[in-house]
Amino acid sequence: MSTAAVDLPGSLIHPFAPAGRRDPYPAYRWLQTNVPVHHDRFSGMWLVTGHAACSALLRDARFSAALGQRERARDDALPVSMLTTDPPDHHRLRAPGGLLLGPAALRSVSEGLRQDVDTLVSGLAARDAEPDAIRDLGTPLATAVFGRLFGLPPQEHAAFTDLARAASVNLDPMAPPASAARGRLAASALTHYLDAHARALAAGDDDTSPLAALAADQRLERHEMLGILSLAVIGGWGPLAETVGNGLLWLLPEGPAVRRRITEDPEFARTCADELLRLEAPIPFAARVTTESVELPGGRVPAGARVLAVIAAANRDPAVFTEPDRLVPDRVPNPHLAFGAGPHFCLAAALVRQVLPTLLARLLDRFPGLRGPDVTPAFRPTLIPRRLTAYPLRLGRDDAYDA
Ligand code: HEM
Repeated sequence: MSTAAVDLPGSLIHPFAPAGRRDPYPAYRWLQTNVPVHHDRFSGMWLVTGHAACSALLRDARFSAALGQRERARDDALPVSMLTTDPPDHHRLRAPGGLLLGPAALRSVSEGLRQDVDTLVSGLAARDAEPDAIRDLGTPLATAVFGRLFGLPPQEHAAFTDLARAASVNLDPMAPPASAARGRLAASALTHYLDAHARALAAGDDDTSPLAALAADQRLERHEMLGILSLAVIGGWGPLAETVGNGLLWLLPEGPAVRRRITEDPEFARTCADELLRLEAPIPFAARVTTESVELPGGRVPAGARVLAVIAAANRDPAVFTEPDRLVPDRVPNPHLAFGAGPHFCLAAALVRQVLPTLLARLLDRFPGLRGPDVTPAFRPTLIPRRLTAYPLRLGRDDAYDA
């Protein structure tokens, strides 16, 4: 195998070119097979596409997340957080981060979130116009999750949604300079908003939100606490919102047997939700910089290299997943990397693994005949590929899957 900066064959579109973003998977598969550790001339980055190599590098301290984020932010405007630090400083921030996203926090918001999901699903039928999975499910679900974690009253949800959406551009490791600059302004506006909100909570006397617990923790400086909150929003709001549309895109072609099992068997619903995350990794890349030259399965990366672990490619590596491009709703085991791996493993994985299956089960229970559009929906042309702009839903009969 070669690690040279070879070009893709002419028949394949580069995964970062506008047309390639609609379907980067053929190019990923070619890279995986031919140059799993690839120096990409287009971006100047090393693209690591094999599952074994991605899994190894995410766990390897010689691949620095702190340097990976610094390369992106350039002017250091992004707040300090777990993702901008390496061990041991990383652990100092991640431990209190558990107050926001750990098991006790999750228990405290679970019942409220179940109610939020019910409200969203019931609200679909009450709409005059055709419901849309992005506008009416994914976006309000993501905001509801942060509403519960942060103790945001419903009247704040619209303002928070606007801020979160604007700040989400910071997730794109190669946003063009103008949108990256707008993203940093939005991140700063978000931080100010969260600062004011946390102060208002602290001035009240009955707030029990996970945010209040984090804000009261003495281990963190104020700017560190705010950095953790911003990271959660920038890293979590968009991916969660988008997972719903992308997941339904894969799930709704399934017939009554799978649909019914999702509503009746919570374990199956969780397994199926994980498979949806595998197929369309909501965070398709993790950025790192090497502190020294490292040999990975499939090739060597030099010191000081900007590296992207291409999670979306690893999740469809045929060496690990049989029928990698197909939805296998009961796929077990499913060692996908959608939540990352190693020290930066997503702190909210348990929360997402609770909310997403709950939504799918409630949705298919209420609307067993739910369908997507007949035409292929449009994808946003952003670097984070295959994000739907809209996904109209047809609710179908209430009582049966009318196949
Ligand atoms: C479908 C939804 C989500 C997916 C697929 C996802 C995926 C990921 C991935 C891949 C990472 C590792 C990034 C890296 O190693 O560079 C990560 C980290 C993180 N995620 Fe998530 N995430 C999701 C939702 C959320 C939500 C909703 C929150 C917060 C409420 C959140 C909070 C975090 C935090 C705090 C980290 C940093 C952990 C650390 O650096 O130690 N995520 N996530």
